[in-house]
Amino acid sequence: MSTSSPDGINAPPPPLSLLAELTHRCPLQCVYCSNPLELEKRGVELETADWQRVFEQAAALGILQVHFSGGEPMARPDLPVLVAHATRLGLYTNLITSGVMMDARSLDALAQAGLDHVQLSFQDVDVEAAERIGGLRGAQARKLEAARLLAAEGMPLTVNFVVHRQNHARVPEMLALGHRLGAGRVEIAHTQYHGWAFVNRAALLPDRAQFDAVTGAVRVGREQYLDSLTIDYVTPDYYADQPKPCMGGWAQRFLNVTPSGHALPCHAAESIPGMVFPSVRDSSLQEIWTSAPAFLRFRGTDWMPEPCRSCAMKEIDWGGCRCQALAITGDAAATDPVCARSPMHDRIAAILAERPAEAPATLHYRRYGSSVGREAELTTP
Ligand code: FES
Repeated sequence: MSTSSPDGINAPPPPLSLLAELTHRCPLQCVYCSNPLELEKRGVELETADWQRVFEQAAALGILQVHFSGGEPMARPDLPVLVAHATRLGLYTNLITSGVMMDARSLDALAQAGLDHVQLSFQDVDVEAAERIGGLRGAQARKLEAARLLAAEGMPLTVNFVVHRQNHARVPEMLALGHRLGAGRVEIAHTQYHGWAFVNRAALLPDRAQFDAVTGAVRVGREQYLDSLTIDYVTPDYYADQPKPCMGGWAQRFLNVTPSGHALPCHAAESIPGMVFPSVRDSSLQEIWTSAPAFLRFRGTDWMPEPCRSCAMKEIDWGGCRCQALAITGDAAATDPVCARSPMHDRIAAILAERPAEAPATLHYRRYGSSVGREAELTTP
């Protein structure tokens, strides 16, 4: 997994993608948001020039794609400037957005800046259910309007739905909506239980029959829309026996930069206590990628315990997910408990057994300065 540089030093291949989390600000308050429970405040966000420097270093490092993410990246007024800068550097630009801040003018500015692709998220097809999960009244109409504007612009579009026990039955309608909106790709992604989703797990975790029904609906949809829609399906780890190679392996394909400039090997890595993540304010992406201790900690296979170390899959799943190992076993260096060979695999069965038959009525909304346990009324725009 490493290459030899001219000076003989082993260097890892460059990451494929930079996830640029421009801000944690967001008008929505999704109960499965993967942002950390402690959201970064506006006052600590990187300035425009900082991000431009980061993109220059990304291009020099060999990164091909920049995903503008958040929070809601459209909350940054300098987004078109940043997209234009990345475009000039030859980077492929993808905007990951809720769409609720998009209008004809802001979309035009992004198109002029050279934006290549938009990934637009929906919480559901049912308006009331969608707005209950996202915590913002009026959001669905704005998203539909954003989709209409994107289609009129001819912008390549992926529509994303996060699925869980409260919307699992509506996957056929989700695929139909994506098709109607002119998306080239629809992503049906089961909730991954990090961040706020971990807090709201009882309200979100489907049972086995619900999971199987979603899988069946995706299978049918793939036949139905064979020639017109690519359907990506992200399965839930809790119903697997084999972990996914999270982020393509720790510090192997992705480099994440938080709003304040911390560089992470995955978006949830700051949940791991005791790790020090370097800042792009102090170090270049090259230095971070090749030698930051946090990036080396779980890269490759040397860190692995048994049974991973002697497993034939170790260079396929790369040990699964470190953040999940931490969340479920208390040890980020443990074998991912999703793996059937993990000595703690029974903890997954215990989580599934503890799942309440009725989803709890209380949802904990993602909010600034919130502490877990704070409930919220839907916000009226
Ligand atoms: Fe951090 Fe999987 S989310 S390694």
